[in-house]
Amino acid sequence: MMMLPNLLSGFLVCFCAIGAQGAVTAGQLSDLMTSLWHSDVNAATSVRVQLQGHTYTGSTSDRATSPLFSYVNDQYYFSRPTYAALLSLLDNYNHAVGSAEHTSAQESQEVTSFLDEISKTTVMQKAHDFLSQHGYVGPTWSDFETTLRQIWFATYPRHGGTYDSSGFEHVFIGETDSKGVVGFHNWIQFHLQEQKGNLDYLGYIFSKAPNTLGVHFMWLHKTKALGSFIYGTSPEFDIAMFTVCYLTHKNQHCNFSVDGHNMEVLTYEMTHGGGGHLGTGYVN
Ligand SMILES: *[C@@H]1O[C@H](CO)[C@@H](O)[C@H](O)[C@H]1NC(C)=O
Repeated sequence: MMMLPNLLSGFLVCFCAIGAQGAVTAGQLSDLMTSLWHSDVNAATSVRVQLQGHTYTGSTSDRATSPLFSYVNDQYYFSRPTYAALLSLLDNYNHAVGSAEHTSAQESQEVTSFLDEISKTTVMQKAHDFLSQHGYVGPTWSDFETTLRQIWFATYPRHGGTYDSSGFEHVFIGETDSKGVVGFHNWIQFHLQEQKGNLDYLGYIFSKAPNTLGVHFMWLHKTKALGSFIYGTSPEFDIAMFTVCYLTHKNQHCNFSVDGHNMEVLTYEMTHGGGGHLGTGYVN
């Protein structure tokens, strides 16, 4: 008889915590994002860009003869665990929309390694604490990892019926369709593709603090009218920022400030098979 009230109150506490979801103010978001920014010990702070010519989305001319990234200390940064784990994921995808993604056992292991590495960072731990306190994810890392896999790595069909896409592929790698480049919102992939000669930077459309660029470029001979990213951030910072925005503000503006600089992040949900995935996420 004594057990029943305890069980009941335990159930109610849990129920109330879930009911609290959604109450995240712009001020709380700014405090979190500023804290993540300053906790990003893996940020590539020595990266330099050369913007060159200003351009616009419909331009057909090349306003930049040199690469965007003029200096990146690849050896220093890319051997760090979270970057190395990200790099091993970059060749796991078929960028063409319409071509199915097949995940080998080794590729699944690489996803697990990436999640394991980012789980050790203060940035991801702070993002998890925040999301857990606000009722968006469970309190254990395993709860959060399940959510991260669902949002970022579960494959889904982007246009037709083929499982050709995922949030991670779209944001971190980029995809191509009949019209051009879609997604592609990560500076590391931009720099590496530029280095390989696959990407031609054509000029910038906007540039604002902190390290936020909107650029016009060609990748694999296809045009990206306007691609945007923050440069110099670690892989875990981008995962944390987009995950927080997706869970708290999906399909809406996710506005916050970092050290007083206003930022606007947009994330869109793609629902498939009863689950929600990141369709895209980018900075505006
Ligand atoms: C977010 O910021 C943009 C521009 O900076 C503004 O147009 C939009 O209304 C803002 N949204 C919210 C919900 O505050």
